[in-house]
Amino acid sequence: MNLTPRTPDEIRAIRDRHLGRNLSLAYTEPLKIVRGEGQYLFAEDGRRYLDLVNNVCHVGHCHPRVVEAGRKQMEALNTNSRYLHDNLAEYVTRLAGTMPDPLSVCFLVCTGSEANELALRLARAHTGRREIVVLDHAYHGHTTSLIEISPYKCESKGGEGLAPHARKVPCPDPYRGRHRGDDAGSRYASEVAHAVAEQRPGAFMAETLVGCGGQIVPPSGFFTGSYEVARAAGAVCIADEVQVGFGRVGSHLWAFEAHGVVPDIVTLGKPIGNGHPLAAVVTTPEIADAFDTGMEYFNTFGGNPVSCAIGLAVLDVIEEEGLQAHAAAMGARLMNGMRSLAERHEAIGDVRGQGLFIGAELVSDRAARTPDAATADHVIDAMKDRGFLLSTDGPDHNVLKIKPPLVLDDGDVDGTVAALDEVLGQLEKGR
Ligand SMILES: Cc1ncc(COP(=O)(O)O)c(C=O)c1O
Repeated sequence: MNLTPRTPDEIRAIRDRHLGRNLSLAYTEPLKIVRGEGQYLFAEDGRRYLDLVNNVCHVGHCHPRVVEAGRKQMEALNTNSRYLHDNLAEYVTRLAGTMPDPLSVCFLVCTGSEANELALRLARAHTGRREIVVLDHAYHGHTTSLIEISPYKCESKGGEGLAPHARKVPCPDPYRGRHRGDDAGSRYASEVAHAVAEQRPGAFMAETLVGCGGQIVPPSGFFTGSYEVARAAGAVCIADEVQVGFGRVGSHLWAFEAHGVVPDIVTLGKPIGNGHPLAAVVTTPEIADAFDTGMEYFNTFGGNPVSCAIGLAVLDVIEEEGLQAHAAAMGARLMNGMRSLAERHEAIGDVRGQGLFIGAELVSDRAARTPDAATADHVIDAMKDRGFLLSTDGPDHNVLKIKPPLVLDDGDVDGTVAALDEVLGQLEKGR
């Protein structure tokens, strides 16, 4: 396709006219990105940026193996899952094979929201209950039934509040949350115990590491304790691994494994197709059977031969390029670098993460842990000017969010730390 390139202002005018106004753009001066390769994005003027934030293009932007798998299958056939196809058979065998027992039944869908919607249906079919316990600040997707159980959205601007059937428990944030210290995990789990005792939910749903809530690593003991009390009350445990699955945490392929639990339902999205719209739900035969009510579950695009070819290529690349171990090594290097920055720069209140899922909390007063969103916004713009793409998140919008494609290298990590050092140093000088 040969489109005549439009200027950034022209594109913004068209977006204003033809796209919903509540679709935001990143950065004060938005970028026009025209190409991606590995961990880098390239603007129209040829400038290269290190992508530190896109956890979708997990094995690298436009990975040739993934592109070729999609191209080849698109040339041959694309239908749906009502025909027998080797790609579908191979993909669900491979995907289920990465999960611990008894997680063995896959449903292939197209987005993380669809996966979580289906997870809610499965939980309801199995338990007969729609009541649900979620974490404060959680985001699970953009559909009607997910928005109203996502405090990140429904309790924020424009939101209508939590659905009557949903109850939230405090986000297990060991830095800013209400429980800190060695026993924070069990104290947060006792909040879940309290909620399930009052509400008798059909499901306890949580991201294994909390993304939009501020790149939170729940303290040890939180998930084991919470799953135990939720199950004792008859609920199923849903792990939303849409952001954090596929080796990002470094130590394991799945973040729930790193937290010592086996969920009843796992939802996957974003990195699963490296940018192609593929997502999945994996559950137990028992829950899948409860959902087999006589009503067919059909998904027009879910599990089509092209998606499955792409999903297989992503699994191959993760394995063959050793990306899980690489995420562990690069994550440790980056966390060490950021922690050494925190020794020099008062603005960094906390550095946390697992593998290449890292957050740095910016504060105006370290002792009081006062969130500093203005500095966070300044830092991401200044880092962009130096060629590093970051974003912010968390309930106070003061957490630098780092979740790059897994293929970044030592030089990228060291360059990121050096640039942040410079940006924070200049900020301090200006004060
Ligand atoms: C944790 C989590 N779950 C679900 C979703 C929804 O995924 P999608 O945007 O693909 O529908 C998101 C999207 O940001 C997410 O972060």
